[in-house]
Amino acid sequence: MQSAREQLALEMKYTAGPDSGLRDAAASENKSLPIHRWVPWIAGFSAQFVQDAIAKYLPSTKRTRHLVLDPFAGVGTTLIEAIKSGNGTIGYEINPFAALVASAKVACVEVTPGDLRAEIDAFRSAMHRFEAEVDKRYQSDPKTNLLEMEDFERVRPAQFKSRIPFFSPPVEAKFLYALVRTGALLEPDRTLFRAALGATMVSYSNYTYEPSLASRPGSGKPLIENASVALTVCRKLEEMATDIEWARQTYGYNWLGQRRQVRQSSYFDATLEAGSVSLVVTSPPYMNNYHYVRNTRPQLYWLGLLSNGSGQQLEQASFGKFWQTVRQGERVDLTFELPGLEESLGELRLKHPEKRQYGGAGWANYVATYLNDSFRFMKSLRIHLRGGGHAVIVIGNSIIQGIEFPVDRLLAQMAERNGLRVEDIHIVRTKRVGNSIIDSSVRNGDVNGHRGKTQLYDAALILRKS
Ligand SMILES: C[S@@+](CC[C@H](N)C(=O)[O-])C[C@H]1O[C@@H](n2cnc3c(N)ncnc32)[C@H](O)[C@@H]1O
Repeated sequence: MQSAREQLALEMKYTAGPDSGLRDAAASENKSLPIHRWVPWIAGFSAQFVQDAIAKYLPSTKRTRHLVLDPFAGVGTTLIEAIKSGNGTIGYEINPFAALVASAKVACVEVTPGDLRAEIDAFRSAMHRFEAEVDKRYQSDPKTNLLEMEDFERVRPAQFKSRIPFFSPPVEAKFLYALVRTGALLEPDRTLFRAALGATMVSYSNYTYEPSLASRPGSGKPLIENASVALTVCRKLEEMATDIEWARQTYGYNWLGQRRQVRQSSYFDATLEAGSVSLVVTSPPYMNNYHYVRNTRPQLYWLGLLSNGSGQQLEQASFGKFWQTVRQGERVDLTFELPGLEESLGELRLKHPEKRQYGGAGWANYVATYLNDSFRFMKSLRIHLRGGGHAVIVIGNSIIQGIEFPVDRLLAQMAERNGLRVEDIHIVRTKRVGNSIIDSSVRNGDVNGHRGKTQLYDAALILRKS
């Protein structure tokens, strides 16, 4: 394979890397793996991909314990694999729901499975009793105010707004009852139960992931008039208990002896010791405007994870912010220079001026904000990596209003600017499904009448600090 430097200079097409030693990064594999399967998340890579990265770049872990960092940890795929490999790990995750799940996972072996199962049984019995009462009242009078059954107004998130009621009335009463019960649990059980509620709540709501959050009727699905919350939540909890038993048996005290931290904060605020990280395996948000904050509004609000105004702060501090956050603000310019980039951005800015912030100007603000954060990311990586340490970054290219931004190659150039060596870039997946920001005529290869060949792909960028 050509070196990345050559690829950058020659604008060559990448080849998939059969010799890269990294398995397919498709995160869908995680759905069938213990612990990883607890909560679906737009993950970037699979647990097997992380295992391979650790095996390749931290081969001598028997004698030395290393620190593995994921600056954009999501629900903790890298963190769990780092712990399993006998290394310490730290993850930064700005989204409180994802951080809650990642914390539940890294803490899970502290739970005694027998005690957890007893808690699940007690929860199930109480839920069944309550649900039977709700169903009885609802059947005899569908208009009855079920929220009066307990002091639910206290826990109901007043600021949560949705186009149609998020839960039907009986499901809402059942969910709130479950929520109140989990509030009385001790840690780490409390976090595990709340992760289970967050993981399942959309499935019995009137919303659905497609993969963005949409109402069920809007997605051609019927409303859910009534359902058992207990059944779904307890099934999830049982799955978690089984995985915890497996983790304790397989990894036991080794797990507990590791540094394993989840920081619910922005990586850009990290106070991590310089040179302390041996390996980074991460996948930052893509330049596709997937709105992690909006898509987790149900979990953030109903689990009480947002305080007043913190939703906006979350959007402001997110990597690349969001198109909705920056489109109508002041013009955003690049804070660094790369050949050709200013021109692409200028071209984008001039698209559809009549649409004002909804046209090129708004998109250029988003792209510039995203790339400025990418540059900051490379700067921080250089500080946190130790000499000889590697970073494996999974990222995709983007096509915005018909203009391709090869984010992987741009990141590689930014890395070099910041004194990191680009060891390799290889495609880990092609034909990634795009979303609405991509002009469909472009995706089909027809750019203003030209037959273009731009395709979406995910690439793994391998960096090394010398
Ligand atoms: C592609 S996902 C990573 C998923 C992860 N690989 C996993 O397996 O779950 C990107 C994550 O970055 C998080 N994020 C965005 N901005 C951040 C920031 N400034 N600091 C830390 N995390 C951030 C998002 O909330 C999202 O969970």
